[in-house]
Amino acid sequence: MPGLFDSFNEKNLSLKNRIVLSPMCQYQAFEREGVPENWHFVHLVSRAIGGTGLILTEMTDVESRGRITENCLGIYNDEQAEAFKKIVDDVHKYEAKIGMQIAHAGRKSVIEGGDIVAPSAIPFSEKNPVPRALEKGEIEDIIEKFAQGTRRAVLAGFDTIELHGAHGYLLHQFMSPASNKRDDEYGDYGKFPLEIIRAVKREMPKDMPLILRVSAVEYSEGGYQPEEMLALSEQFVKAGVDMFDISTGGDCPTRPHVYPGYQVKYAELYKKELGVPVISVGKLENPHVAEAVIQEERADLVCIGKGMLRSPYWAKEAAVELGVDLKMSGVYEMGY
Ligand SMILES: Cc1cc2nc3c(=O)[nH]c(=O)nc-3n(C[C@H](O)[C@H](O)[C@H](O)COP(=O)(O)O)c2cc1C
Repeated sequence: MPGLFDSFNEKNLSLKNRIVLSPMCQYQAFEREGVPENWHFVHLVSRAIGGTGLILTEMTDVESRGRITENCLGIYNDEQAEAFKKIVDDVHKYEAKIGMQIAHAGRKSVIEGGDIVAPSAIPFSEKNPVPRALEKGEIEDIIEKFAQGTRRAVLAGFDTIELHGAHGYLLHQFMSPASNKRDDEYGDYGKFPLEIIRAVKREMPKDMPLILRVSAVEYSEGGYQPEEMLALSEQFVKAGVDMFDISTGGDCPTRPHVYPGYQVKYAELYKKELGVPVISVGKLENPHVAEAVIQEERADLVCIGKGMLRSPYWAKEAAVELGVDLKMSGVYEMGY
C-alpha cells in the first residue's frame, strides 16, 4: 500500500512523494505582460524547498486575451519562457519536479476592453461581459497556440504538462452543453479538447506524461452529468492523456458545500473506471486525510491548495505530523 511519502512514477516523471502544489493564480505579473516575477519564483521554489514532490504552476495562458486578468501569466513568448526556465532550474535543485498548467480563460477573462471569446456568446454570469463566439479558423489558431505554449514549456525544462480543462475556462466551456451551443463541428463537446490533447502531445517527449484537470461535475443548470464527463474522458485517454487531476465546478458562480476530501469520490471513480493515475484535490490539507486518500488507493497523488498558501513547508509539516523522515535543505532542517 503506498503512502503519502512514497515515490510515484508515471512514464519518466519520478516524484519523491505524492504531494502536489495545486495550481493557483497569483495575479502578480506587474512588470512585463505575462512574465513570471520574483513573486512567482518565491512562491514556486519555496514550496519545492518545503518538500513538495510536484509543483504545478498557476494557470498559464496561451495568448494575451486568454488571461483572466492583466496580471496573469502567459506562455506565448520567449521572454515568458526564459523567466520560467529560471524557476524550473531552481525547483530542480530541491529534488522536486515541476509541471506547467496550460490554459485559456475564454469567457472568464475580465480584462477590461479585452477580446473576450467563448464557444458561444453566453456570459459566465450576469456580471461578466457577453463573449464573442469564436470563428472556426480562430479555434484552430488557439489549438496551435496550445501546441506552441507546450513547445516553449518543454524547452524551458518542465517535467510535465497539465491542461486546464476544469473550472469553466475555455476547454471546459467547449465540453459543457450549458456554454457550447455551436452548430458547427465544434459543437461536439469532445472535439476541441481532443484536438488540443493531440496537438500538445505532438510537442511533448514520448515519455513525458500529460495531465488533464477536469471538473467531474458541473453545478450549473443544463450542465453535463458526471457520467457524460467520464465518457468524454475515456476518449481523452485514447487521445493521449496519461493522468487526470479531478476537480469539480467552476462552470457557474454556485459553489458546493466543502468538507475534507469532498471531491475524492470523483478521483476514485476516474481511477477505477479509466485505469489511469489520478490526482485528488479539495480540502485535503489535514495530513491524516491526505494520507488516508493515498493509502486507501482512492487517488495516486494529492494537490494541496490553500493549505500551501498558508505554509510553503506543508509537506515537511505533514511529514513531522505523520512521523516520516523528510530532510529539509540547509539549516532549515535545524528548525525541526
Ligand atoms: C487563489 C487561488 C487560485 C487558484 N487558481 C487556480 C488555477 O490557476 N488553476 C486551477 O486549476 N485551480 C486553481 N485554483 C483551485 C485550486 O487549485 C484548488 O483546486 C482549490 O483551491 C481546492 O483545493 P484546496 O481546498 O486545497 O485549496 C485556485 C485556488 C485558489 C485559492
